[in-house]
Formats: sequence, C-alpha cells, structure tokens
Amino acid sequence: MTTATVTEHHDYDVLIIGAGGAGLRAAIEAKQRGLKVGIITKSLLGKAHTVMAEGGMAAAMGNVYEEDNWQVHFRDTMRGGKYLNNYRMAELHAKESPERVWELEQWGALFDRTPDGKILQRDFGGHRYARLAHVGDRTGLELIRTLQQKVVSMGTDVFMECKVLRLLHDANGSVAGCVAYWRPSGEFVTFSAKAVVLATGGVGKSWKFTSNSWEGTGDGHAMALWAGAELIDMECIQFHPTGMVWPLSVRGILVTEGVRGDGGVLRNSEGERFMFNYVADMFRAETADSEEEADRWYDDHAAGRRPPELLPRDEVARAINAEVKAGRGSPHGGVFLDIASRRSAEFIRRRLPSMYHQFMELAGVDITREAMEIGPTCHYIMGGVKVDADSAATKVKGLFAAGEVAGGMHGANRLGGNSLSDLIVFGRRAGMGAADYIEGGATRGGFDQGEVDKAIADALAPFTREKGENPYDIQRDLQEMMQANVGIIRNGAEVDAAIEALEVLTERANNIALSGGRQYNPGWNLATDLPSMLTVSKCTARGARDRKESRGGHTREDFPGTDAQLATVNIAHTTTSGDWRDAITTTQIPLLAMPADLKALLEEGK
Ligand code: FUM
Repeated sequence: MTTATVTEHHDYDVLIIGAGGAGLRAAIEAKQRGLKVGIITKSLLGKAHTVMAEGGMAAAMGNVYEEDNWQVHFRDTMRGGKYLNNYRMAELHAKESPERVWELEQWGALFDRTPDGKILQRDFGGHRYARLAHVGDRTGLELIRTLQQKVVSMGTDVFMECKVLRLLHDANGSVAGCVAYWRPSGEFVTFSAKAVVLATGGVGKSWKFTSNSWEGTGDGHAMALWAGAELIDMECIQFHPTGMVWPLSVRGILVTEGVRGDGGVLRNSEGERFMFNYVADMFRAETADSEEEADRWYDDHAAGRRPPELLPRDEVARAINAEVKAGRGSPHGGVFLDIASRRSAEFIRRRLPSMYHQFMELAGVDITREAMEIGPTCHYIMGGVKVDADSAATKVKGLFAAGEVAGGMHGANRLGGNSLSDLIVFGRRAGMGAADYIEGGATRGGFDQGEVDKAIADALAPFTREKGENPYDIQRDLQEMMQANVGIIRNGAEVDAAIEALEVLTERANNIALSGGRQYNPGWNLATDLPSMLTVSKCTARGARDRKESRGGHTREDFPGTDAQLATVNIAHTTTSGDWRDAITTTQIPLLAMPADLKALLEEGK
C-alpha cells in the first residue's frame, strides 16, 4: 500500500488539463494544427463549471441593439473590473467574442432567436446593451455539448476520472508533462508533452456556500504556482448575488442572473425594492432612480435608465449582504427575488426552464407564483495564473493557461456572461499559443523522475500513518474558516486570523491518516485535493491582507474606499520550492500600461 510505481505512460504534443469550455476549445485549435492532443479531466467529459454559466455568453453582436460594439463591451468590462484588468485581454475578448459565437453556431449550438431569426441577446448586470447570446437558462450546457461533440468527432483522446498531482519539468526547467492517478483504480500514470495547457477552472470549494461542484478545488492554480508561475489578484473572489439559500442541503446552488436580466427584482422582508438605495457614484448617472423609470427600460433601453438590480455583481452582492445584516432578510437568511409578479407563467417557463424545475424539485417553490429566497454564493475567482494575453503563455516555458484558472481578464470583478466568452476566446488562443510554441521548435524530452517519485510518495503518505487527521474534518474547517474570515466582506483582523489558521490546517493536512485501498477511495481523493485548496486559500488570504482598499470582489470594511497606489498594481504570489507546505512570497507588480486610444475609450464612458 505504501509504495507504488507508475503503470502507464502516454506521449502527446499538447496535453490539456481540464475539460470545460476553455480546455475543449484549446483542444480543437491544437487539433486543427495537426498536433497530437490529449485531454485529462478528474471528472467526466461534459461535467464542468462551464454549465453554471447559465444565462449566456457576452458578445457585442448588436443583434438587439445595433449601437453595441466591441468598444462599449471593452469599456463595460474594464469598469466592471474596477480597472484592475489586463487591458489587452479585455480588448481581445471584446473584439473576438462575436466571431466565437458564430463559430459555435456553425458547430451546432442552437441559440435562441430574435423574431427576424438572428441570435437573441439578453440583458445582464453591468452590460450597457442586451448582449448575451443564450439558450434559455442552459447556455453553458449547450456550449459544452457543442464543443464536446466537435472534440470527439476530431478523434481527440480524453482521459476521464484521472486526477493530476503535479506538473513535471525537463532538464531546462520547461514544463514537460504531468503525473496523475486514475480515481477508479488508484493506479499512477505519467504523461509527457511538448506543451501543457491548464484549463482547470476555479477554487470555490474552499468556501462553505458555493455554486461550485466538487471539482472546484483550484488544482490548476496550485500546480502552476508550484511549477514556477505567478498567481495574481487572488483576493478578488466573486460572490454571485443569487444562490439558493433554502433548503440548507442545496444552499449555494446558482440562480441565474438571467432572472434579473429578464425582469426579476430584489425585495427585502418589508417588500422594498432595496437596490435603489445602493447605487454607487460611478453608476449613478446611468441607473434609474424610480421603479417606473427602471421598468420603462426593459421595453426600450433609450426610454429610461437601467434598473439597479442590473448593477455589476459585486455591487448587488454587497447590497444583499447589508440588507440581511440590517435585519431585513428573508426567513432563511437571504432576500427575495421576484419574477412571478412581473412576468407571465408562460414567459418564465419558456425563458427560465431550469430555474423553474430547480426550485420546484429542490425547494417546492413554484417561481411562476412565489418569490425565490436567494443570497450570495461563492461562484468565481477573478484571480489566477498570470498569462500573456495574446498567447496564454505563462512565465514557465511550455505552460499555458486559459479560462477561470487564468488571471487578468476580469480585473477585480467579472461581469456575468463574460466567462463563457472568455473560455472560448482564450481557450482558442491557448491552443494557438501552444501550437506556435511547438512549431517554434519545442521538443519532447524526458522529465525529472525525482518529481514523479516525490509526487507519488506525497500522495501515498496518508496510508503510511496509523493515526492522524480525517480529510473531511480538514475540508469542513477550511470551508467554515474561509467563509467567516475571507468572505464577501473582510477586515485586517479576519484575514490575519485566516493566514494563521491556514498554517494550522496545513500541519493537519500533512498528518492525514487513511485506511483502505486506493480504489474508489473518496477520502484519498479529497486528501490529494487539499494541498491545492490550502495553497490557493493562502494566496487569497495574503492578497486580501495586502490590498488595503475595497475594489470589486474584494471588500475591506476597514478600508472601504479605493487606494490610488493599489489601483496601479496586481498582488502577485510565487513560490520557489514547488512543495505545497512551503512559504509563498507575495509582492506587488505594476499593471500593464494601457495605450492612449483605449484609455480614451474609458474616458468617453465616464
Ligand atoms: O448567472 C448566471 O447565469 C451565470 C453566468 C456567469 O457566471 O457568467
């Protein structure tokens, strides 16, 4: 039980870790360049957090409002991100997303239509125009279905239920593959590759209430850091304003922003549409100040100003939090989201079929007749691996990253709908970046066997101890601690306490004892996820300590305003040893300088 060898090995040109939207799109691109591509997922093909982007994919196609264009989308994204974004990523994203939507349609995605047959676009928070191409409230699912079909039809190898432990380097320090194990059998497997693309998604499982499923443990973030890459903006965590709050067993499950985009409003226990009381100065000029004006806007965006329910997510989540704290919450600690009194039952069932079923099946609530109880849920991390915008390359040769695992695109706060477009735009660019790198002469050399042996010994260590910690206790304590100390609103004392607590949890995780075998052992699977969860949580807590201001998805109650110096930097994390137990170094690095023509676009929108 305590020793094991690698029983299987595979060679690829491009190895993609993660099978959500970004990973699948990267695979298609690399395959189209004639490369041998393998995809590894610790879950099943088709099961990824991509499906949780329910309401749509943002792209300035101008189908509903022809005034829309990439410049407005760029400006909305930068404002939503509170200007911490990598401007070049935001620019490429705004310019390229329409093309990527049309391409998905050619590959078989069936988007909802306007009466004259164009792709229909819906409203979402922070987007000036109705901009989200969608398929009811199942857009992410349609994307995954389409990409998966394309990948499979191209003959790509997919390794499912295969958990990657570590990236491996060659003698020159380039990334050259990875070591993994099969979750069903517990057998170890190595992969060598000329280039590796990380597309592993997010980190939400380190919080107690989250829309993320079991896979969201930050494996790619952590492996990149251990391999020598930088992580940025890890303090910027998105709490989606609307997750289910009741029953407790389903707390955190997403309620799409599409409900508000299609006319749903937020009310407190007194029936008040409270969002009118929470409009920040930067959004005041464009936000309605009466219910009548807000409601006119749904029919014609020129006839009124936007409803305050469609402010960016960070603003709405903080407002809900404040209402609950002030004692005006719903019976189970949320507020009310009401579409029943505003739209017909037929409209709700047609536009929001999943929400209708979700509330009916899980909560016994008919959303065509009653309001939903909702509250913020940890949904997305803006922070991630620092990449070059054009190629998705990290600072480690041979390593690329795209989608939620990559940082920079969304700055301090992501606009809803910008995730699906991010996955597709930068998934494609990562595939191109990896292919260009290989065509530039990258070869597949050997990897460091010492790294393989160490990763396997680490993974098996819990089986060598007769007595020790239970991984589920550590996971529960981590989630409760992060929710309490590094949640939607933080302060200096809480983040300091979190940093200390994470050291204690690291000690405990280093002393896990497991019994039984490696086959189908969920305790062992969790034990191999905990190093990633702890590593990313440390970066989040350290970033939250050092960003002594409030910006987007990072709110410090002891520093409620923004800070001019911190507006110019990303908080970055590195480590030198590659061991999950070792120290992390945290510094400030300057933001990419924006060219004058793009700066002028931001000025126009003020
Ligand atoms: O609310 C939603 O449908 C989520 C979309 C997103 O995160 O982009």
